[in-house]
Amino acid sequence: MLIVALDPPPNVDPVEWISKMFSTLRDVDGVAGFKIGLPAIIECGAKVLGNVFRDYDGLVIADLKLADIGDVMVLTLERLVRAGFNAVIAHSFVGVSNALDKLSRRCRELGVRLVLVATMSHPGAVEVMDSVLDKLINVVRRIDPWGVVAPATRLDVLERVRKELPSVKILSPGIGAQGAEPGDALCRGADYEIVGRAITRSENPREVAASIVAMQREKLSRCRK
Ligand code: XMP
Repeated sequence: MLIVALDPPPNVDPVEWISKMFSTLRDVDGVAGFKIGLPAIIECGAKVLGNVFRDYDGLVIADLKLADIGDVMVLTLERLVRAGFNAVIAHSFVGVSNALDKLSRRCRELGVRLVLVATMSHPGAVEVMDSVLDKLINVVRRIDPWGVVAPATRLDVLERVRKELPSVKILSPGIGAQGAEPGDALCRGADYEIVGRAITRSENPREVAASIVAMQREKLSRCRK
């Protein structure tokens, strides 16, 4: 129920940093996988990063927030999969026709989990994304992906996404550095919470990750009563 966002800080060797975080956190009970974003993929290359996770069977998510025509997203996807990623995040606002339909078909062929962004966790997401959330949810419904991203920072929005999309996995960022607390998104319908800096910038990432999982379990046991 915890996905760790591995966004290397400046002034570190990013491959070394990601390898160290991965080996420190991979066997923490409750850690379901890792998410790597654009800065690290640009700097290190997908192949080098994929190699770090080669003997891991948890989620290895490429968070490039794809938003292109279908054929180009498929080209990107194929490279990510060859490199070893087993899940990708794409934006839903590009729509279905000649965009997410193609990406989704290729994901199914390759056995890759597709995760669509319903709306985002930062405050600016209310300016546009939340105001067209019905339409974005409709795109998600038509594509029927493995997962969606919905914010831990706006729990009413998260709850709405869960209600409208009862069977999709919800991945929820915004915990810690962006202000939300561990477990609250899970209590409102998320399946996974994505946490980055609160873990990776701490003195003891392993201990903090384990304590976040403990907080998640404690909150869930209370809210499910
Ligand atoms: P922190 O350090 O804030 O990291 O815990 C959060 C991670 O999640 C990503 N992020 C998002 N990804 N939709 C996404 O697809 C979102 O709304 C969103 N908000 C944060 C962010 O890139 C970082 O890796």
